Amino acid sequence: METRTAECRPFGQLKRGDSVDCITLRNGALSASILTMGATLQGLVVPDRAGEPADIVLGHDDPQVYLDHACYLGSVVGRYANRIAGGRFSLDGQPCQVDVNNGPNSLHGGTGGFHQRIWQVAGLTADPVPQVTLCLDSPDGDQGFPGQLRASATYRLHEDRLELLLEAVSNAPTIVNLTGHAYFNLAGQAAGRDISGHHLEIAADSFLPVDATAIPSGPPQPVAGGWFDFTRPRRVGAGLEGGGDPQLALGHGYDHDFVLRAGRQPEPTFAARLSEPESGRVVEVWTTEPGLQFYTGNFLPDGLPGKGGATYGRRGGLCLEPQTHPDTPNRPEFPPCRLAPGQIYRHRILYRFSSDAGA
Ligand code: GLA
Repeated sequence: METRTAECRPFGQLKRGDSVDCITLRNGALSASILTMGATLQGLVVPDRAGEPADIVLGHDDPQVYLDHACYLGSVVGRYANRIAGGRFSLDGQPCQVDVNNGPNSLHGGTGGFHQRIWQVAGLTADPVPQVTLCLDSPDGDQGFPGQLRASATYRLHEDRLELLLEAVSNAPTIVNLTGHAYFNLAGQAAGRDISGHHLEIAADSFLPVDATAIPSGPPQPVAGGWFDFTRPRRVGAGLEGGGDPQLALGHGYDHDFVLRAGRQPEPTFAARLSEPESGRVVEVWTTEPGLQFYTGNFLPDGLPGKGGATYGRRGGLCLEPQTHPDTPNRPEFPPCRLAPGQIYRHRILYRFSSDAGA
């Protein structure tokens, strides 16, 4: 049997008329399914410590469900992942107003963000590494963002890791911040267990506290000794159940950006390690970007349809979204997100898979 394959097949149709395709990459024991809508990681099959496979990301079987519930399951989000306060910023002295879709703020590129678009398959190959490149043309003024932007998302499935390379070029000065919004549940998307029992380590000594609208409210706050201290692996549920922390109350759980120790780097560096003790599955996230949004699925609606008859609910999955810090266009103290014409925006993310021995 071929251990490396890459194939594209029809996935389904949207009420608005578009057809959505699904690309499946296989390499040894791993497989990844990617939709042309939103360049969405729809499925990711990874073995447990005994070699037993399970799909460890949340997703839907029907493409319309992605549009009916704006949970961003597995999607590439843009043009600006995370929030911009009031959807307003100024770029080279010019005021810009982008679509506001999350209380008073702009979230994940606005109502019609990249997660809802049909991306074009620009390259699909099984050899030497199964990979697909999806491209999206975003016109000048799209959701209020200046400049005509061409974005691409390349998924490469190696024997022990999935790589997501996000790139963009613009014909005029603009801002950009792209990430993958996978919700992980290492027990398996159909296991029916929430993510409280997962253990997490984050390579960050500080995080960004937020206001009631989830915009950073002040300078980075040290994590040492508090519920945000993931410098050593700790059970995610401890903080969620611990109560009393005003930041956890404001976020309805974890929904915060961590300031990664390594900062922005040309090559991916270690950002986080997530493990699930029962299955032994481990995912490490590596990135070239300076921030990591840790989100515990606080707004996942109960009864959300999943795959193969599974249903999800609050805390059914957790996100580790590497990115530029939230509201950077209004924060000169953060590493910048401006993209000049001729410059290439490039964000590389690695998801590395392994397993832990049992206790
Ligand atoms: C991000 C945000 C969350 C939430 C999810 C999508 O992670 O930080 O507040 O909006 O996306 O539901």
